[in-house]
Amino acid sequence: MKRRNAIKLVAGTIAAGAAGVTILTQAFKPEKGPAISPKKVEANTAETEWNYTILDPATTAAHAYENFNIGSCMYGVFSSIIAQLGEKIGAPYTSFPVHMMKYGHGGIGGTGTICGSLNGATAIFGLLIDDKKIRDILTSEILCWYEMNPFPTFKPVEPTFDFTPNTSISESVLCHASAAKWVKKTGYRIDSKERVERCRRLTADVTAHTVEMLNSYFDNTFVTHYQNNETVNECMACHGGHGKLGNSTGKMNCTSCHDKTVGHSLFGDVHYQMMDKK
Ligand code: HEC
Ligand code: HEC
Repeated sequence: MKRRNAIKLVAGTIAAGAAGVTILTQAFKPEKGPAISPKKVEANTAETEWNYTILDPATTAAHAYENFNIGSCMYGVFSSIIAQLGEKIGAPYTSFPVHMMKYGHGGIGGTGTICGSLNGATAIFGLLIDDKKIRDILTSEILCWYEMNPFPTFKPVEPTFDFTPNTSISESVLCHASAAKWVKKTGYRIDSKERVERCRRLTADVTAHTVEMLNSYFDNTFVTHYQNNETVNECMACHGGHGKLGNSTGKMNCTSCHDKTVGHSLFGDVHYQMMDKK
């Protein structure tokens, strides 16, 4: 056989083989978890000790930007919303010990876990929303929104540090990954004033979004948008509580930590089909 034909034959065999595997894995595709379409969330507006009143997102965000300088990201989000509610409602907000939220800086005491701005936002949900189901919906909504969108976008009237950061998409709710993505994209050091300004403005972005969410929730017009990550649904179909593997929990973006391995892509489906439910 001429060399060129031999190459063609080999190439053809590889292509046919690959197509065969692809068809096979397609045939064995397990059913994906149901897509979560935008959903209206009915507000539970029973009076509590911690009532809400409509706030201005921009004013509260500007406040958070300033408060970042007192106690960092988590404190910035939480204290600004409490201060605005204190101005409009008074007690019990006026005596809330907001200083406690300083622990959340740098992903909890600098450990790089959950982004403090998200910890602050979801602590507010914890304070205002007693219904677990609703609280969890709002919580995963803001976490998914954070993973998928470019930040920071907030423009301060009087900047603490006069620098307009480029945006980056974190694809993760972790302080570590979020800050690293930005540093990698922009080339600034993690301990630079520029990176701190990025987090200062991100704190304002998260505050504005938290207030917008609360405004629409308590106005009974809140609709979910973000908590439907296709990849997460796909992974969880096999690995989640309803999947045969049942070895994984969560809604975080899976591929920010796990690569889709080639072996996994090619044989995961077939392997899955063959295995018994654990
Ligand atoms: C079709 C079902 C299926 C889907 C979809 C799927 N997996 Fe898997 N996964 C498997 C099987 C089967 C194994 C091997 C389990 C074993 O041997 O116990 C596995 C193993 C793993 C492991 C363990 C380490 C390894 O590679 O063996 C990780 C981590 C993993 N999957 C992550 C993911 C992520 C992330 C996604 C989504 C991008 C995903 N999986 C989607 C079936 C699936
Ligand atoms: C922040 C990083 C991170 C994210 C995000 C993440 N994982 Fe993991 N995952 C880990 C670590 C760390 C382990 C433990 C690895 C080990 O011990 O080998 C793990 C283990 C696993 C395993 C193996 C469990 C077993 O019993 O072998 C599976 C399956 C898995 N993850 C699936 C997922 C899925 C699905 C998602 C998305 C919903 C996800 N992971 C998101 C870090 C992450």
